[in-house]
This record gives sequence, C-alpha cells and structure tokens, in this order.
Amino acid sequence: MKEIVPPPPAIVRNDMAAIQALFQKNVVPSYARFELALSRGSGAYLYDVAGRRYLDLGGGIAVCCLGHAHPEITRALVEQSGKLIHVSNLYYTEPQGRLAEALVDLLGPGKVFFCNSGAEANEGLFKLARKFGHSEGRYEIITTLNSFHGRTLAGIAATGQEKVKHGFEPGVPGFSHVAYDDLEAVRAAISPATAAVLLEGVQGEGGITPATPEHLIGLRRLCDEKKLLLLLDGVQDGHFRTGRFQSFQRILEKAGQASRLSDHKENRRDACSAFLPDGISMAKSLGGGFPMGAFWVREPYADLLGPGTHATTFGGTPLACAVALRVLEVIQSEKLADNARAIGEYLKAELLGLSQKYPKIIKTARGLGLMIGVELAADIPAFANNGKAASIQFVNRLHDAGLLTIPSGNQVIRLLPPLNLRRSEAEEGIAILSKVIRALA
Ligand SMILES: Cc1ncc(COP(=O)(O)O)c(C=O)c1O
Repeated sequence: MKEIVPPPPAIVRNDMAAIQALFQKNVVPSYARFELALSRGSGAYLYDVAGRRYLDLGGGIAVCCLGHAHPEITRALVEQSGKLIHVSNLYYTEPQGRLAEALVDLLGPGKVFFCNSGAEANEGLFKLARKFGHSEGRYEIITTLNSFHGRTLAGIAATGQEKVKHGFEPGVPGFSHVAYDDLEAVRAAISPATAAVLLEGVQGEGGITPATPEHLIGLRRLCDEKKLLLLLDGVQDGHFRTGRFQSFQRILEKAGQASRLSDHKENRRDACSAFLPDGISMAKSLGGGFPMGAFWVREPYADLLGPGTHATTFGGTPLACAVALRVLEVIQSEKLADNARAIGEYLKAELLGLSQKYPKIIKTARGLGLMIGVELAADIPAFANNGKAASIQFVNRLHDAGLLTIPSGNQVIRLLPPLNLRRSEAEEGIAILSKVIRALA
C-alpha cells in the first residue's frame, strides 16, 4: 500500500502562485475558485500547499462522506485495482451486481443503472421519462424553481435557475418549472404532454430547503392520478446525509409515514408501502470521492430502458462499485446515519442559538442531518461593497479562520461535512463560526 499511497512529503514551500499560474494558462476558467490550493487531507481536515490546516465542513460539496483519506476507501481501491479496474458493460462483473443489490435493498423492488456523475444520473431519468411517455406523445418534465439538476444541456433545462441557462440557448425543450413544495402549482402545470415530475427532497444549491411530508405524499397521489412518473434527484441529499438513506425517508418520518429508526428491513417496508418515488438519481457520496453516479427505477418501470437504449463506457466499473460497496459497509457498520442525525441536530441547535444572539449577522439555520444551510442577514454592514455576494465574503472570512464551507446562492452557506464528523470537530466548527460572527457583529 505504501508505494501507492505514500505519506505526504514535508511541506517546504508554498506553491500557491505557481499553481494559480498553471490554472490561468491551461485550465478552462469556468469555475470561480477561492484563493486556496489544497494538497492533502485526513478525516475532516484539509491542508493547503503551505501546510495550513482547515476543518472541512464542505465535504467536497457532499461527496467525501467518510472524510479524506479514509483507510477503507484506500484499501478498496488498492485491492480492487490489483484485480480488475475496468471492463466494458458488454460483460458481467460481480461488484456491479452486488452494489445494485445493496441499493435495491435500501430502496425497494426495482433496478439500478450506473453512470459517472449527478448530471448523468439525471439525464438517465429524463430518458426514462421520455421512454415512459413516448407511445402517448408525452415528454414534458415538471421541475421546481430554485432547483439544480446538473450542467449538461438537459440538466440546465431542468434546473429552475436562470443563471445557469444564459448563453446556452436554445434550451432543450420539454421542461417547465413551478414553485417548490406547491402541489397546486404542479397540478396547474400538468399538460397532456406531461410525463414526469422531478424534484430534490431537500433543495441543495437552492439554499437547503426541505420539502414537507404533505407535499411528497400529495405529489405521489397526483402522479398516480395523472399517470406521471415521480422522480427524485437524490444527488446531494442522498446517501444517509439527512440521517436516512434518501431524504424522502427522513422527511416522511415527520408524518409518521416511516419509522424513526435507521434502515432496517422492517422499517423500510413501512416507508415503502406509504411512499415510493418511481426513480431516484444518486452520485456525490455514492463513491465517497471516487466519481460515480447511478439511478434506481421502481419495479414496474425497471425494464423500460432495454438493451441498446442507454449506456456509458465507465458506468459501474468494478473499481467504482467495489469502492461504493465499501463506503456503504462503513456507513452501515459505523452507524453513520445515526451520527449524521445526532451531529446535525447539535450543529443546527448551535447555529440557531447564534442566529438568536446575532440576528444582524445570521438570519436562521435550517436543514436535515448533515445538510445544513445558514442564512445570512441582509446588508451586513461589515461586508465590503465590492460586488461580491455576502455568502462569498462570509466563506472567505471562514477560510481565513481555518474553516471550509460552501456558498449556496448569495445569502446562504452550506455545511455538508463527512457523515463521520466527530462531536469535537463539530464543536471546533461552531467555535470558528462564532468567532467570525462575533467579529462581524
Ligand atoms: C441536486 C443535484 N443534482 C445534480 C447535480 C449535478 O451533479 P454533478 O455535478 O455530479 O453532475 C448536483 C450537483 O451539485 C446537485 O446538487
């Protein structure tokens, strides 16, 4: 293992300027990057090229669910890459079959398609919806305002935010957007061409907004009544981040539709009998940092995408699936869903406390499990009038204080830390946030 994952070298110089110059000259500038060059990580901590340590509560935007350099991920990568990294989907491999079985077991009867990213997982759901409605000429998908579904052409068409579409017109046809959590708006938007409804259980990029249980149950009934597929984008809020495998399972606990306990078979049956979507996209935490995506399709529709209708070269490689299986094993054996729930409750309570103490800086905090949004108050006087959003200025100050978080729109920052975040690390995060908030007040 040592030759493959050597210990990090001693930091002898700060390469920031040289790395930035490489990017400026050679990397497409489609990302607005922070002034940070990171070189290694360990658990919930990241280190920049100068050796400075940061507590990472951003988790690579909900990807690094076991933290950085987790030894089980390294072990799975080393073991599987020594056996078989890739074969084409012209053939069968055991890890793909086993991972599909594990995901079906967590969700309910159906089948899984593997791909490489969240956008690609959603593309698969769009194609599923078109295939489903094709014989009746139905192809439209209703999504929600403020949603985010990826950066492919269909992904930006599905996304309910104008800013991602500018300059890429004409858009892919067949998507309309309605207010989030508004059942009557969905009903009003249904046309004879509608085939499906797609939403995030908790809007991520849109500012951490959870759907209500009544809305989810109402949507299920409406989709059944109108013969529409109900599709969930679980890319950011899935994989136990909210304290259950998928956010709908956590949200429905509030309505008594699913047991509060984590995903034992009996409880899953309760949840599934009350509510199941027809398709769910997954990515981000699925591979714990190894890039992969997937979508699950409920049983009656599981064979709609037959041979030759959908494919991707790297979908479900033995390497990706072996890593994802190990990630699942660790989450389940270490009861990380329960940890996400407990640490998330602690963080949210502390943040709400800060919002009461400093209402001119923090408006509120919301979210489920380890998917938390902190909404900043309007017009914080200490922020410079330099055209930079408040969220960016706040995140920059947190960086200076040694904490990484993720902006979400102009007024919200997100905490999407590893699911194995320790209480002491959460306390450290709150201490840093308090210090920065105090300095702004
Ligand atoms: C809800 C949601 N869907 C889809 C995507 C796109 O995923 P990817 O960036 O892996 O293509 C994201 C990414 O942030 C997301 O948050």
